[in-house]
Amino acid sequence: MLTIKPAELSPAQLQNYMQYAIAPRPICFATTIDLEGNINLSPFSFFNMFSSNPPICVFSPARRVRDNTTKHTLQNILEVRECVINIVNYAMVQQTSLASTEYAKGVNEFEKAGLTMLPSELVRPPRVAEAPVQMECIVKEIISLGENAGAGNLILAEVKLIHIKEEILDADGKIDQEKIDLVARLGGDWYCRVTPENLFKVAKPLTTLGIGVDALPFDVRNSMELTGNELGMLGNIEHLPSAAEIDEMRNHPAVKEVLDATIGDGSTRTRELHGLAKQFLKQGEVFQALKTVLID
Ligand SMILES: Cc1cc2nc3c(=O)[nH]c(=O)nc-3n(C[C@H](O)[C@H](O)[C@H](O)COP(=O)(O)O)c2cc1C
Repeated sequence: MLTIKPAELSPAQLQNYMQYAIAPRPICFATTIDLEGNINLSPFSFFNMFSSNPPICVFSPARRVRDNTTKHTLQNILEVRECVINIVNYAMVQQTSLASTEYAKGVNEFEKAGLTMLPSELVRPPRVAEAPVQMECIVKEIISLGENAGAGNLILAEVKLIHIKEEILDADGKIDQEKIDLVARLGGDWYCRVTPENLFKVAKPLTTLGIGVDALPFDVRNSMELTGNELGMLGNIEHLPSAAEIDEMRNHPAVKEVLDATIGDGSTRTRELHGLAKQFLKQGEVFQALKTVLID
């Protein structure tokens, strides 16, 4: 394993390792304005939401690693503590990248990138009309993380108004994760796109308490067949099945077939039952899978 002490690398090398590992990162396409009314538009992937009540997003225009200068976005926010956080989808990712060009102060990147300004309702910086979600924000706090090249500046932005394009909503008026077509930044020039075939769900126990992988018998925890993900699914079940439930599972046709075919051969039986459990897990039948691996 490669073990790195940050102090032993140059800021550029360190940034490279961190950006490849801490990925994908959502992109905040931030509109800001200076006191003279010059508009700026720049993307920032050091970005996330950190609170929903109050609704706070944070992004970080860092000091340039190259020459330790600060970004226009930061300079503008120091003058006018307002911004719009526009969310970037696949249809606008090339224009977003173009807007990150180091144009001179006062150059409006909406024009350079060919994007459309849409007046905001509460704040002075305009919204990006093409963005699927646009959030008008008041900057609550600016936290400088240092004076050296690469040092971040946290912009704590409170969301005051959210605009969402209707075409990305589902029948309940919620954002449809398949429709929003998000992109995210990774290391170097890499991006990723959230396509329907890349989306999957992980059942999250909200009010329930999973038994935990440690509650599974030794042979299940150390199965040659079951992966960490599969053990995680089994450990998410709230209670172990009763002896009667496990016994009943012996009558399931697929289980019965394995049991009949492996009489006197314990290791093959275990392997095949675990293989069968994998099939149940694939079909989302987690309790069936748990009962199957618990058959003696
Ligand atoms: C997708 C993307 C994400 C970026 N994320 C950041 C970031 O999080 N922090 C940063 O300082 N620069 C980031 N950059 C670079 C800035 O966008 C770039 O320096 C920009 O020119 C700053 O503009 P400004 O000086 O007009 O504010 C990113 C660039 C791209 C294309």
